[in-house]
Amino acid sequence: MDAPPSRICVYLPALICCFTPGIAASWWYMHSLGSQVMCDNIPRLAPRQRQLCRQHPSVMLVIGAGIKDWMDECKEQFRHQRWDCSAVAREQGSYRRLLPRDTREVAFIYAVSSAGMVHTLARACSQGELDTCSCDPHKTGISSDSQGSFSWGGCSDNINFAVSFARAFIDAQEGKQRDARALMNLHNNRVGRKAVRCSMSQECKCHGVSGSCAVRTCWMALRDFRRTGDYLHRKYDGAIQVVMNQYGTRFTRAHESFGNLTKNELVYMETSPDYCIREPESGSMGTGGRACNRTSKGTDGCEVMCCGRGYNTARVSRTSQCECTFHWCCTVHCKDCQELVDVHTCKFQEGPMYDL
Ligand SMILES: *[C@@H]1O[C@H](CO)[C@@H](O)[C@H](O)[C@H]1NC(C)=O
Ligand SMILES: *[C@@H]1O[C@H](CO)[C@@H](O)[C@H](O)[C@H]1NC(C)=O
Repeated sequence: MDAPPSRICVYLPALICCFTPGIAASWWYMHSLGSQVMCDNIPRLAPRQRQLCRQHPSVMLVIGAGIKDWMDECKEQFRHQRWDCSAVAREQGSYRRLLPRDTREVAFIYAVSSAGMVHTLARACSQGELDTCSCDPHKTGISSDSQGSFSWGGCSDNINFAVSFARAFIDAQEGKQRDARALMNLHNNRVGRKAVRCSMSQECKCHGVSGSCAVRTCWMALRDFRRTGDYLHRKYDGAIQVVMNQYGTRFTRAHESFGNLTKNELVYMETSPDYCIREPESGSMGTGGRACNRTSKGTDGCEVMCCGRGYNTARVSRTSQCECTFHWCCTVHCKDCQELVDVHTCKFQEGPMYDL
């Protein structure tokens, strides 16, 4: 992440950092936690979360360490778009202002953070990093698939433990009062958890004479988190705008009167700002200073990215490896070459505050 660590939260041994009044999901900032987990010192955890934190300090440490991964994935997914997830990546303090609405971007963040926690925990279990869980205990014995029978072996990533913990911990954030925003968050949390479950694949190894595959051993493995990120990005593109029904119990589509909400779609309530100008009260960081592509007609193109404000061009020198030669055996020698490249960045909006 290129955002510098927040001033307050440079590696404190406790979690006393990063939280300002009004934060909805303070656990996102646990990645700054140090060697000692002091659950009582994280402000704004829901009572149930504090309880889970006390009961499972080692799980908390694993979760804290995994937060950077999904934040990075969020930034990677949106690197070519005006909203680039920096709202979350940017530390502390400003969070409340950066995600103040119930937009599809917020829907994505809830989903990807839930998915990230599930992924992190399922992996940590199977890698023996936690006392509370290990390989998926259900994946034992004999089973069968389209290619015949096989025996579960190896170590399956423990998706069930991970989903249960993530559900208990993250959903507790919404407390007992279930307003529209809480229902939206709970729904999108679920979509995120499910995305990881669905991204698992069965991997097998053959045994037997010259690979005859007379005996197969299989296990369930998580795939790279990138796949979950890609999947959730598609869900973001197809997210459905909803309104609460009159009883406040359920969502219905805001626009189409037909068609049920399918459980697998992300939902949001508010239309997003265009994210062109810096306007923290609506969750927009603006695109001033963002790099853009002069020739692209897509969302990363300077025209779209800079919202018609224009861009600055700087010629910078880059070092790259060139004239590489292969030496038997087995090294490659390269020269360092300097090349000049033009870098385009969006102009800031008018105004002394922003034109830095
Ligand atoms: C929508 O949901 C209702 C009630 O759950 C169900 O009866 C109906 O068949 C669903 N319609 C479609 C198009 O899936
Ligand atoms: C800019 O966009 C063009 C067209 O989409 C693409 O071919 C090119 O690789 C992009 N350049 C960079 C630096 O990403």
